[in-house]
Amino acid sequence: MARLTIAQLQRRARQGQRLTMLTAYDYPMARLLDEAGVDIVLVGDSLAMVVMGLESTAEVTLAHMLHHAQAVRRGVSHALLVVDLPAESLRGSPERVRRDAQRLRKETGCEAVKVEWRPRMDRAVRVMVHAGIPVMGHVGLTPQTAQVEGGFGYRGKDAASAQRIINQALQLEAAGCWSLVIECVPDVVAEEITQRLRIPTIGIGAGRSCDGQVLVTHDLLGLYDRFHPRFVKRYAQAGALMRRAMQRYCLDVRQRRFPASAHSRPMAPVEAARLRQQLNGHA
Ligand code: KIV
Repeated sequence: MARLTIAQLQRRARQGQRLTMLTAYDYPMARLLDEAGVDIVLVGDSLAMVVMGLESTAEVTLAHMLHHAQAVRRGVSHALLVVDLPAESLRGSPERVRRDAQRLRKETGCEAVKVEWRPRMDRAVRVMVHAGIPVMGHVGLTPQTAQVEGGFGYRGKDAASAQRIINQALQLEAAGCWSLVIECVPDVVAEEITQRLRIPTIGIGAGRSCDGQVLVTHDLLGLYDRFHPRFVKRYAQAGALMRRAMQRYCLDVRQRRFPASAHSRPMAPVEAARLRQQLNGHA
């Protein structure tokens, strides 16, 4: 199956088809998502928490993103691959942002990068788009800067802050973003943004009106239980399933049920006899 393109995804959204996006950080998860028919695979900087056990996405580096995105690339052949630019890149000048985005594109083969809103991010987006790099924007709750902006709660709860988020969305579209993630805002704010933009919006904790939805795959599967945001729907308890399998393995080994003969490679009897003779001869 051919790889999805940005133009195809934009067309689908215009036709009213909902877009699906999920995160991956390694090869097996990437393959499963691709086989399941997900439209967009995101190597999110949520990597920090759900895979690396760090406290904040701000701690992820470009080197981490490159390493994980390369593994994901090997597992994705149909979905569009998007990689987050880490906080260390976005703190730099627009030139630095472009340079790091170009490295992500070149060294991972991703189709697009994603950037979280911060002041003057529209300038960096313009520089990247001018260099031919497709960019997905991200507004609302922006986890890289959440700790200095009062924590991980919903954004845009009052009219003034909602207006600021709408303006940021408009600025990112005007700068050339091809799509926009809207995270943790009241439904009405996401609806206003979706109506005002021509590019597709992809919501997470942003209600039902966005053109698509994204979740962190480890949340959806029940693989990460340090917290459970209200917008997450758990589709499986994979963590519990995996823990049970691991416990059964330990029990089998301790009680000598694994490996069984089915898991062993017998030697041809004639060779086994020869080996025994040989060993006895040397004894
Ligand atoms: O890093 C991430 O996983 C994300 C999604 C939650 C959109 O940015």
